[in-house]
Amino acid sequence: MTTIYVVDVESGNLQSLANAIDQVAPGANVVFIRNAADFQQHNANIETLLLPGVGNYGHFVKQVTERGLATPVLEYIASGRRIMGICVGLQVLMKFSEEAPGQQGLGLLDMKLAKFTTEDPIFTKVGQKKAVPEIGWNSVAQFSGDTTHLYGINSSNKYYYVHSYAAIVDSQKEQITAEEANGWTFAFTNYGSERFVAAVARKNVFATQFHPEKSGKAGLAVLKAFLQGQPDAQGAPSTMSSSAATETTLSGLSRRIIACLDVRSNDQGDLVVTKGDQYDVREKDDNANVRNLGKPVELATRYYNQGADEITFLNITSFRNDPLKDQPMLEVLKQAAKTIFVPLTVGGGIKDLTEADGTVVPASKVAAAYFLAGADKVSIGSDAVAIAEAWYANGKQGTGKSSIETISATFGVQAVVISVDPKRKYIADPSQTTQEVIKIEDPARYGPQGERYCYYQVTSQGGRKTHEMGALELCVACEALGAGEILLNSIDHDGTNSGFNLELLHQVKSRVSIPVIASSGAGNPGHFKQVFDLECGVDAALGAGLFHRGEYTVNDVKAHLREQGMDVRLE
Ligand SMILES: *[C@@H]1O[C@H](CO)[C@@H](O)[C@H](O)[C@H]1NC(C)=O
Ligand SMILES: *[C@@H]1O[C@H](CO)[C@@H](O)[C@H](O)[C@H]1NC(C)=O
Repeated sequence: MTTIYVVDVESGNLQSLANAIDQVAPGANVVFIRNAADFQQHNANIETLLLPGVGNYGHFVKQVTERGLATPVLEYIASGRRIMGICVGLQVLMKFSEEAPGQQGLGLLDMKLAKFTTEDPIFTKVGQKKAVPEIGWNSVAQFSGDTTHLYGINSSNKYYYVHSYAAIVDSQKEQITAEEANGWTFAFTNYGSERFVAAVARKNVFATQFHPEKSGKAGLAVLKAFLQGQPDAQGAPSTMSSSAATETTLSGLSRRIIACLDVRSNDQGDLVVTKGDQYDVREKDDNANVRNLGKPVELATRYYNQGADEITFLNITSFRNDPLKDQPMLEVLKQAAKTIFVPLTVGGGIKDLTEADGTVVPASKVAAAYFLAGADKVSIGSDAVAIAEAWYANGKQGTGKSSIETISATFGVQAVVISVDPKRKYIADPSQTTQEVIKIEDPARYGPQGERYCYYQVTSQGGRKTHEMGALELCVACEALGAGEILLNSIDHDGTNSGFNLELLHQVKSRVSIPVIASSGAGNPGHFKQVFDLECGVDAALGAGLFHRGEYTVNDVKAHLREQGMDVRLE
């Protein structure tokens, strides 16, 4: 039986990688290497080593160094045995990152990493900012060197990227030319106008900036080729029809479609998917029972097979306080992560929990349990409102102790999504609030008393509590505190099937630099087209009811967008 060794410095979701290995090399044994002693113990047997890294470069380098792994890894590489770095595992092959100026990487390549700019000229020209981090599905734009050495990475496939820092080409052309002369092969990708290193390979060393274990079939094919030692593999056949004329988005990312599952237990104690316990958009059967729309893992797997780019699970009864061990969502994630190879987000209940004996489990530990189970991101809702209120009260200063700050410090900003549940409030005059208002232009849309202004008040506890804070203000605070993405719901639109809240999305998207996911109101594929057409550039859109009721598949939505010339990833 083959054994695959995986360096684990406990900074992220390695369960998904183990699941992906199991998928492409059934029966393979996965052994985690956590320190120098582990390395020494197994060294003689290691033929295939994976070096996955998520989150922060500095944190990763520090962990690798403190655990005494830097030297054995370098010696291993020098011995000619095979290694594959993933994400920060690619970055660490380079010498240096702006993300952690004091930390030295392994330095195999004399190159450096810099942060993507939000002020990308391509975006500035149209009055937008580029979202940083880059989150989503991008292709490969260019190769240099021996391209038969890239384990089937194919320019017509899409791969899942999530990172703020990259080895950007423009600022180090000479270094790249020199490294090409040293025998390195490169694959490059464009994020907006910034071209960066998507993959590198030389002899026994291979590394990708994208996550093969989260890139659906195309990613699994790359991982499989590496594990089988086939650098010249063909890769996954691409389903992109070359004749279809599609746009190139400003960012280069395809239009991301997320399927969302609201999970609760029914009276029999079984976990089921429903539509919102929140703000009463529940679908009831004739006996007024909340309608069961299916089982979470089964549905999620179906959506993955239909081409969903991401799956979100929300615990909609999380306002109760139950100990961590009573969270069946952990099991849902474990099961889902075995068959679903796109990013998984979990929301609801990411907060400090009190165990039966009174001990408090901090939110970062709760999040860690979800990451261990297979989640890639956690979504923070009610807690975010309290954290933002404290931030404003404290002169726009964080305490360093909030869940947003602690989780993003350890697991990276990309792991923290803020779920915002705002409700429209009409006002006659902007002076009636300190929050930034939206001027309503269309008289047909004035408030019931003819109000010409509105803003979006955030709520918590599943819409039960309203706060004197605007959605925009909440998002601005959370971005400053280290959130990586915004999931923007709209209570006024949820359950209406009448389309997304374009006005709200426009307000938030034009003011924050992290990606914004449109949520609430999707009733048909046309609504997705409409929201992606917004000139402010929404990054992703989420659907729930239309998929659960079986009215449309994720494929239907993508096929529609494709027909309209939009760039979508097809599985
Ligand atoms: C990409 O895949 C297609 C088949 O889907 C193949 O014809 C083509 O040669 C591949 N390109 C590269 C660069 O491997
Ligand atoms: C949701 O959270 C509540 C409160 O902690 C808990 O009782 C319930 O079991 C959770 N549901 C799932 C699916 O984990």
